[in-house]
Amino acid sequence: MGNTTNTANPGGRAAAAGSRVDADAAAAAAAAAVASPAGDPAPAAPAKRARIALIGAGGRSEMYIRAIYGKHSDTAELVGLSDVNPGRMEYYRKLIQELGGTRQVKSFEPGQLTAFIRDNAIDRVVVTTPDYTHADYIVEGLEAGADVVVEKPLTINAEGCRRITDAVARTGRNVVVTFNYRYSPRNSALKEIIQGGVIGKVTSIDFSWVLDTVHGADYFRRWHREKENSGGLLIHKSSHHFDLVNWWIDDVPERVFASGGLKFYGDKNAAQRGLGARPERGTQDSGTQDSGTQDSRAGEAVRDPFVLDLREDDKLRELYYENEHFDGYRRDQDVFTGGITIEDNLALVVDYQGGQVLSYSLNAHSPWEGYRVAVNGTEGRAELEVVERAAVQNSTDKKTVVDPSGTPVQEEDAVRHNGERLVVQRHWEAAYEVPIINGEGGHGGGDELLLSDLFNGPGEDPLGRPSGYLDGVRSVSVGIAGNESLGTGLPVRTADLGLGVDLRRGQ
Ligand SMILES: NC(=O)c1ccc[n+]([C@@H]2O[C@H](COP(=O)([O-])OP(=O)(O)OC[C@H]3O[C@@H](n4cnc5c(N)ncnc54)[C@H](O)[C@@H]3O)[C@@H](O)[C@H]2O)c1
Repeated sequence: MGNTTNTANPGGRAAAAGSRVDADAAAAAAAAAVASPAGDPAPAAPAKRARIALIGAGGRSEMYIRAIYGKHSDTAELVGLSDVNPGRMEYYRKLIQELGGTRQVKSFEPGQLTAFIRDNAIDRVVVTTPDYTHADYIVEGLEAGADVVVEKPLTINAEGCRRITDAVARTGRNVVVTFNYRYSPRNSALKEIIQGGVIGKVTSIDFSWVLDTVHGADYFRRWHREKENSGGLLIHKSSHHFDLVNWWIDDVPERVFASGGLKFYGDKNAAQRGLGARPERGTQDSGTQDSGTQDSRAGEAVRDPFVLDLREDDKLRELYYENEHFDGYRRDQDVFTGGITIEDNLALVVDYQGGQVLSYSLNAHSPWEGYRVAVNGTEGRAELEVVERAAVQNSTDKKTVVDPSGTPVQEEDAVRHNGERLVVQRHWEAAYEVPIINGEGGHGGGDELLLSDLFNGPGEDPLGRPSGYLDGVRSVSVGIAGNESLGTGLPVRTADLGLGVDLRRGQ
């Protein structure tokens, strides 16, 4: 698999991009209008800099802060910053100074969001708090008169969807869900192939995603490990993936059957596999942190590969470890302790309104990280294979690169190599590889493209990448139905979830 560098539409077979004619168009227009608080659908450039308040000064907020003080300083201005943890706000205050920020950014208490928006004429609130808080801040932001940019997932349950859809209807304001995966050039390339009709009408999709023992493990170390915080991986992680499918095939999920469970992480699984006593957390003063793991090749005791020592990475230390005394947020809990209420192995069958069938799986303890998606159509098949980290080989030095899609890593082995390959084959023809152009930065340059759309307005995007609240609801609808199906053992219709909006096209 190679890292390809150029995109094309091989054979000129792809037809012109089909335009969305349903409520998605409204969502895309809503996303465009966010760049212009006055409500113009697709402005060339905002007349003034958008006044932004950011809530949630954790790991993800850095991307937005760097963008506002970097490439997008001409269209956006950070007016206020909020977090429950004053230490993390101080961390970003220092970063803002390093980035050359001259004006003082105001701090405000999370409970004062409404007053802050009104008193400071805030145009947009950027929400980068844990998932379970999203609905509250979205609704509050809209009601106080701001538009909202929210990290995925939109929310974690049906009640959150109802409240958000109701607030959007009442206020007429806009919500953008930043689905950065759509902007990854490889995912856009697959969209182009499908949208162009190269493989005909889509009949089914086979999609499997594997998270490795570094990135996958990370969801079991902190707030994500409790379903009431994250909705489980079906919401927190897979909403990215379900959004991709919804967008690739331009259709709506109707019925979901899910199966899975916690089969690797957690205290019970550890005990069954005979793992001995474990440290409660990774950041320990005991020195070796050896819990008896043996390197079978060398026959020597090695450091526990599941341990994350926050002191070994500057950002992890300064942002989280040194601020624990404010709120007790431990970012390095042991993945084999009790209290985990999310799944690590999941399989779903999803029926779409147009008759397509998705088979999906997620594994969170794989030795490599990446995904494979195969799309079957009436005229052929497209296959996208992506390896983001080919191997995790006890490399404790690289373990702090938690997400290899955000920060590319070089870990490879002789068999598997990092890279991506999109292969298309039409019936009765030879297969061909579709070249992919990658840019600089996270997700093959996708994050930069997303930020540009966000801060400059998307204009006309033939691929329809900007996503609004309806895309957010559609993506979490699969996970919400999946969670219900896990509980009942039965298939669940998204229309029966009470999401506050009819997801079907043409409604
Ligand atoms: N699109 C992506 O690729 C991507 C990547 C990472 C995270 N995310 C999303 O970003 C969001 C934040 O994730 P993160 O990894 O930065 O988490 P984090 O734990 O690093 O940061 C969350 C921050 O929110 C603060 N916080 C907690 N509760 C709060 C509350 N009630 N009010 C205000 N602040 C509160 C915490 O103190 C912390 O600083 C999540 O929704 C996550 O899904 C998206």
